[in-house]
Amino acid sequence: MNTLPHAARIPPDMLSEIADRVGTPAYVYDARALEAGIGRWIGPVGDPARISFAAKANTNLAVLSVLERAGIGIEVATPGELGRARAAGFPADRIVFGGVPKSREAIREGIHGGVGLIVLQSGHEVAAAIEHACESPGGELAAGLRVRPGIRAGAHPSLETGRADAKFGLAPEEVPAVWRQLAAAECVVPRTLAFHLGSGLEQIDPYEQALDLMLSLVHSLSDADAPVLELDVGGGLGVDYASESDPDPAALVRLLESRITGIPVKLRFEPGRSVVARAGVLLTRVLYRRERNGSPALVCDAGYTDFARNALYGAEHAIVPVHGELSGDPNVEVLGPTCESGDRLGTGRRLHGVRPGDLLVLRDAGAYGFVMASNYNSRPRPPELLVRGDAWRVVRPRESLEDLWRGEVAS
Ligand code: LLP
Repeated sequence: MNTLPHAARIPPDMLSEIADRVGTPAYVYDARALEAGIGRWIGPVGDPARISFAAKANTNLAVLSVLERAGIGIEVATPGELGRARAAGFPADRIVFGGVPKSREAIREGIHGGVGLIVLQSGHEVAAAIEHACESPGGELAAGLRVRPGIRAGAHPSLETGRADAKFGLAPEEVPAVWRQLAAAECVVPRTLAFHLGSGLEQIDPYEQALDLMLSLVHSLSDADAPVLELDVGGGLGVDYASESDPDPAALVRLLESRITGIPVKLRFEPGRSVVARAGVLLTRVLYRRERNGSPALVCDAGYTDFARNALYGAEHAIVPVHGELSGDPNVEVLGPTCESGDRLGTGRRLHGVRPGDLLVLRDAGAYGFVMASNYNSRPRPPELLVRGDAWRVVRPRESLEDLWRGEVAS
């Protein structure tokens, strides 16, 4: 069992009971681990309102409301995430509509609904925000610009977002003119420069490099009608899925705070994975065992439609029997049941003692797990459960077959 305070600790007997009563596959989150996960950030940052949890990592309303009660804010990327943030109880002034590509309609919806900050990342977003700013509930729109700092942060190629060739944000040299355009616009108050380097980062020096670039922009805008008041350093801090030691948010916060001493800007953080990844597990049952040219495989009832990270990024999450020990050579593959050969949960595992019908948990599945599940092969998405102490409850039921074709019409 993982001993990190922000890792789920769910007793095996409770997992068996959940499997019997709710079925498998199922996502199970531990409320205390979620609280410890956000506590890792609140401690060093101090003011919880300067933390905007990146909702994309886990949007379950029960998870969001545990985090909301800690006093933090939330970063949303779409009107759907915005709706969830509101439903979970986040007040408008703690919502950041983040710097991922947004349609004009999404920008209008965000402004009308009221958000504490909108981060714009391209010319068309800036134009749409200027057009609708006076329609914001308070008559004034706090805005930010996402900068593409041109830094390689060492993440998986699909998860690097701050490189010069990334699709996100404005190039540094474009920023001053756009900032001045925002400052001159009616009802807009530019406040923040934002960046996000990528996801799953193990090192903190790329943040330092990016912050220095942002500080040079802050300096070059010091004579603008509106000074830069805030630097949003995005999310990205990783989790070491292969071990029980994670990069420490406190080290990142200390380093970045030390760079802004004496400069009148505040920092904002948008962590996702580092808050929730460890707090959830995916519970699955083994359907059968296969030998393929002498190499054993376990075929489970959870597949890449439930948990996509191995198939998408080759991510290897710990997979352990609920009852029993790891044993034998590390050569067992853990596969899903769908019609794709790439449907895998893990490779090279010591799972020789596992038999059909046994339960497995895939650990550290609280981030980018359920949120990336699909209905491919018309598989209902799994339920989500929340555990607190010795009590558990379903916080999203398993989809039914009827859910799969709701709204469709047979012609
Ligand atoms: N802020 C922005 C603007 C982002 O785009 C993201 C993540 C975050 C914050 C949070 O990053 P985190 O702290 O969670 O690394 N599906 C992938 C991860 C994609 C992350 C996209 N953006 C995975 O399973 O690894």
